[in-house]
Amino acid sequence: MYLDPEEEEILAGEKGETRQKMMELLVALGKVFGADRLVGIKSAQVSGASYKTIGEYGLAWLSSLDTRAVVPAVLNPIGMPRRRWQEMGINPDFAAKQQAVIAAYERLGVNLECTCTPYYLHKTSFGDHLAWSESSAVSYANSVIGARTNREGGPSALAAALIGKTPCYGLHLEKNRRPHVIIEVKSDEKDWSIAHYGALGYHAGKLVGNKIPYFRGIKPDPDQLKALGAAMAATGAVALYHVDNITPEAKKIRFNLSGLEVISVEPAEINRLFTEIHVDAVAVGCPHCSPEELIKIAELLKGKTVTKPLYVFAAQGVIDKNVPAFSIIERSGARIFADTCMVVSPAMEQYSAIMVNSGKALAYVPNMCGAVARIGTIEECVAVATS
Ligand code: F3S
Repeated sequence: MYLDPEEEEILAGEKGETRQKMMELLVALGKVFGADRLVGIKSAQVSGASYKTIGEYGLAWLSSLDTRAVVPAVLNPIGMPRRRWQEMGINPDFAAKQQAVIAAYERLGVNLECTCTPYYLHKTSFGDHLAWSESSAVSYANSVIGARTNREGGPSALAAALIGKTPCYGLHLEKNRRPHVIIEVKSDEKDWSIAHYGALGYHAGKLVGNKIPYFRGIKPDPDQLKALGAAMAATGAVALYHVDNITPEAKKIRFNLSGLEVISVEPAEINRLFTEIHVDAVAVGCPHCSPEELIKIAELLKGKTVTKPLYVFAAQGVIDKNVPAFSIIERSGARIFADTCMVVSPAMEQYSAIMVNSGKALAYVPNMCGAVARIGTIEECVAVATS
C-alpha cells in the first residue's frame, strides 16, 4: 500500500504516539481489504459513543488517546440526551459514565453533536469521500447523496477523523458501486408513508443481504429513502442502493442491468408487517427526524395531549432550528430528545411493547430494548399515543 512521505512520518511515530497508532490501524485495515492508498475525507461520523455499547473498556481506550481530529467529526447517538437526561429517567451512575465518554471525545476534537443524520448539519456532496460508521447514515450518504463511504467501525472512523484519511477500497471505488440485484416493487406506492418504506427496507434487507439492490417501481422522497436505507442496513448489510430515476448515481450512470437477478416484492409482503399489538410507549425518529418530519409530528399533535409516553428523536441542531414545532410537540406531553434514540438508550428498556414508524427500529428494538415492536405510520403512532 502506497504511503506518501507525510503518512510515512506519522507511521514512524514522528507525529506522536496516538497518531502513529491510528495510522497503524488504517494501514492494517487497508492491507486486509487490498487498498492501494489512503484517500482524504471530508468528514467522519464516529460510532461507539454510547456507554451502553462500549462500556468501561471502550472508555479507557478513548481516554488513552492524545491528539485532535483534523476533519469535521460528529458522534453517533449516545445513551442519553446531553441536556435533559434526568427527564428521560437515566440512572445518574450511567449518566456519569456517559459524560466521561463524551468528555473523552471532546478532548479529541470531535463535535459533540450526537446523531445518525449528520447530513442535516454539515453539507455533504456527491463524490465526497467520508468515514462514517452508523449504518443508516452510511446508506444515506452513499445512496441518496452519492458520497462515498464504507461502513466504518467506531475505531476506524475515529482513526480517520484524527488522520483525515481512510483506506481507499470498497465503496470508495466506482467499480464496487454497481448494482447486483434488481428489486421490482409491484405496488401502488402513491399512498406509501415513511413507515411503508421502512417496512419495504425491512423486507428487502432480508432478501439481499449485503448485495447492492437497484429498485424499480417506487418514487420515494428523501425521508422515505432514509427509512428504506436504514431498515435495509438493519435486516441486511446494505450500505448502498439505487432507485431507478431517483438516486443520483442511478440518474447519472447508465448501469448495465442485463442479466441481473430480479426479485419481485408484492404489496402483501409489506402490509403483513403492520400488525396491531397493544403498546405501552411510542418512539419515532429512527433515523433522527428531518425538519419536515418534526413539522409533520407537530401538526398531528397540535391541540392534543398524549396518554402514553411519546418519544421523538432528532439532532440538537435540527431541533434548535425548529422551535415552533418543538414547542407544540412538548406542549402535548410528548418529549423530544437529542443525542440519543430508542435503540441506544437504556431508558427504553422499561417498556414491554413499543410502537415505531421505522423499519430499522422494528428490527432492533426487540434485541436492544427487550421489547416487542410494532410498526405504523406517523399518523397511527400519534393516534395510539393520544388515544
Ligand atoms: Fe439512528 Fe438510533 Fe435509529 S442511531 S438509525 S435512531 S437506531
